[in-house]
Amino acid sequence: MALKFISAEEAAALIHHDQNVGFSGFTHAGCPKVVPVALAKRAEEEHAKGNPFKIGMFTGASTGDTIDGSLARANAVKFRTPYQTNKDMRNAINNKQVHAPIDYFDMHLSQVAQEIRYGFLGGVDVAIIEACEVTEDGKIIPTAGVGITPTICRMAKTVIVELNSKVPARLRGIHDLYELQDPPKRRHINIFEVQGRVGLEYVKVDPSKIFVVETNEESEGGGFAPVDETTARIGENVANFFVSEMKNGRIPQTFLPVQSGVGNIANAVLGSMGINKDIPRFEVFTEVIQDAVLDMMREGKISFASGCSLTVSNEQLHQLYTDLDFFKNKMVLRPSEISNNPGLVRRLGVIGINTAIEVDIFGNVNSTHVMGNTMMNGIGGSGDFTRSSYISIFVTPSVAKNGDISCIVPKVTHEDHSEHSVKIIASEYGVADLRGKGPNQRAREIIEKCAHPDYRPMLHDYMTLQQNGHTPQSLYGCFSFHKAFLETGSMKNADLAQYKK
Ligand code: COA
Repeated sequence: MALKFISAEEAAALIHHDQNVGFSGFTHAGCPKVVPVALAKRAEEEHAKGNPFKIGMFTGASTGDTIDGSLARANAVKFRTPYQTNKDMRNAINNKQVHAPIDYFDMHLSQVAQEIRYGFLGGVDVAIIEACEVTEDGKIIPTAGVGITPTICRMAKTVIVELNSKVPARLRGIHDLYELQDPPKRRHINIFEVQGRVGLEYVKVDPSKIFVVETNEESEGGGFAPVDETTARIGENVANFFVSEMKNGRIPQTFLPVQSGVGNIANAVLGSMGINKDIPRFEVFTEVIQDAVLDMMREGKISFASGCSLTVSNEQLHQLYTDLDFFKNKMVLRPSEISNNPGLVRRLGVIGINTAIEVDIFGNVNSTHVMGNTMMNGIGGSGDFTRSSYISIFVTPSVAKNGDISCIVPKVTHEDHSEHSVKIIASEYGVADLRGKGPNQRAREIIEKCAHPDYRPMLHDYMTLQQNGHTPQSLYGCFSFHKAFLETGSMKNADLAQYKK
């Protein structure tokens, strides 16, 4: 069957008000780039005519500005899930004075595809997919990110493929595309090592529902901030912790697969592992493959990487395409329900390293909300990994906003990961090991090893507020640090004395 080629504007015209649209990719990697922009323009034109035009959005994770930015600025979003990082989308979610509210709901990334399949989120009307190849019999080869692509392609009534000639068709073979079966008939996932493969190198779609838009678009990868003194020290602390775990026989000499979260700190931690001579070559079983992973693969420090996307700078991406023969047999890109699958994480003994916004002295972690109410990005895959990891680690600088915020607080203002899942916390000051410790010991460990020295006396003082019970938590004083920040601009002004009985 001959493929139907159309323009981005014609593709946008296939999408209607109130429909649910699924997007390929994961972070900026693998996202469509021209149809979403045309769709935003269409929404603005409809609004100018006085017509409503808003869509529901399913994505793999965050996207590029061409999706989240364009559609948020055009006020074209009815609801959105899951993770997002775009500043205009974040403003639209948080600032209800500027926009009609976007119903944003945050989810564990491994669950998005299955919840769409279960029908929990409404149907998928249209899927917009970036591909490096599409065949007349309906085989679609994704680009640098996968996310929920297999599920939305299968379920959508219309599949719009952005065929991007900037991405070499030689990428075919790097993906392992597999969709889980629905309960009670779900089978085990036949992956028993990081390199294991279980699926196809393409997504197969009924060709009659495919429309192709040809593009030649650069990726939207921005790169990472240079490693500063704080992130370098956090990285060194984590690397030294691993060396001591190996010496004590708790991590095997062959090491274990590593997951590292998003952002600059995660990238810096991997970099520190790379330069530590006592850490052997290891494998990565992660969600996003960042710049440091590619560097370390070239240096031979990482032998294999399994992930959902190549969330790398454009420079790294071009180099990878040039050196594809080197990388292709050392890497696999999977859908998020497989790359982040909690069962596989536990089976493979993955060590999870994620970044926190704030942690409390008992080991609970807030990854998503600033001051309890403002959404930052979302939980992403941190919960998929944290709960099931062999060792789950959270990294955080001890302070934020020039020291006026302590990232170690008496109680987190929003709880994404509980004390039951969090095993290690590392800041630039040291590493708190929470394993086998009750609330009092945990609190002392976190305060002494991770808190900034300016806040240590206050945190110790906090622990004296509540004498009885298993956990020394004061329901009256637990948000005194946050209250002081909101009222005076610094947590250092927290007044604990008023809560002393
Ligand atoms: N209170 C208020 N603001 C805080 C804060 C706190 N306790 N801690 C950090 N911040 C601010 C920083 O000052 C910075 O603000 P700015 O953008 O105005 O400079 C911002 O939050 C980001 O902090 P930064 O230290 O640069 O962290 P990051 O870029 O490494 O991101 C998370 C940290 C938690 C937001 C990010 O890792 C995330 O989204 N995590 C959830 C998803 C996840 O873990 N995914 C990985 C799974 S594979």
